[in-house]
Amino acid sequence: MSIPIVRTLAELRATVAEWRREGARVAVVPTMGALHEGHLSLVRAALVQADRVIVTLFVNPKQFNSAADLAAYPRTEHEDAAKLAPLGAHMLYAPDADQVYPEGFATNISVSGVSEGLCGAFRPGHFDGVATVVAKLFLQIGADLAFFGEKDFQQLHVVRRMARDLDIPIGIVGCPTVREQDGLALSSRNVRLSQAQRAVAPRLADILFDAAARLAAGAAVAATLDAAQAAILAAGYAEVEYLTLRAEDDLSPLDRADRPARLLAAAWLGEVRLIDNVPVRPET
Ligand code: PAF
Repeated sequence: MSIPIVRTLAELRATVAEWRREGARVAVVPTMGALHEGHLSLVRAALVQADRVIVTLFVNPKQFNSAADLAAYPRTEHEDAAKLAPLGAHMLYAPDADQVYPEGFATNISVSGVSEGLCGAFRPGHFDGVATVVAKLFLQIGADLAFFGEKDFQQLHVVRRMARDLDIPIGIVGCPTVREQDGLALSSRNVRLSQAQRAVAPRLADILFDAAARLAAGAAVAATLDAAQAAILAAGYAEVEYLTLRAEDDLSPLDRADRPARLLAAAWLGEVRLIDNVPVRPET
């Protein structure tokens, strides 16, 4: 069993046009490859809701903050294709760079509001890169639905806002974060953790879930976040970039957990930056 790999916009469009003639509903799962169970869960969810599922694989240079990070990003197309084939995904669209950014490409899509703060504050230009490439992929493919993981919660908001603002007719589906048995959120970056760091890593999720339960039960926000931050550092994380309570629907900062919310964090474990978030559902 194998999955067709398409590298040009012309071939992509011809195939999608054929599917459309058959009346198929088309979904896309955008990725940068290095596929793990989190990505595969998106593909499975897409296969439930659509007749044809395209997985994209493009390591997007515009969303990296440093050349070293871009160079270090894992490229495992062969293994990725082997993971997708048995699921029954219909196409791996792995465009050549000039199919996405042809010579002279000069457009930048910048989403204000939801791109600001959180990861946006620490990774300048990152969400412009994400919004620009995702808009291109949406317009190239013309899918009915697109699937994204809640692990990148801010990204999900940026993509929703961008599609809505630009009238791109596509439904954005957010899917729950997939975790290792010990709670660590799956991420392509986890492979960079040493054995000792891997042992410490799941403490971030433990602490977030614990703080979320306290907040849901009415604990004071500032004191709960201070204690959680101290616990993350005490567990062995080198730095907490942010740990904050935000409204689930628009990411606005909350100083009371009085509506559906998310507790979001980014923290460094040695040289590896991990992010995670958990829901906070007020009990009353
Ligand atoms: O989440 C990712 O892997 C990337 O940011 C995305 C959405 C594929 C855009 O390059």
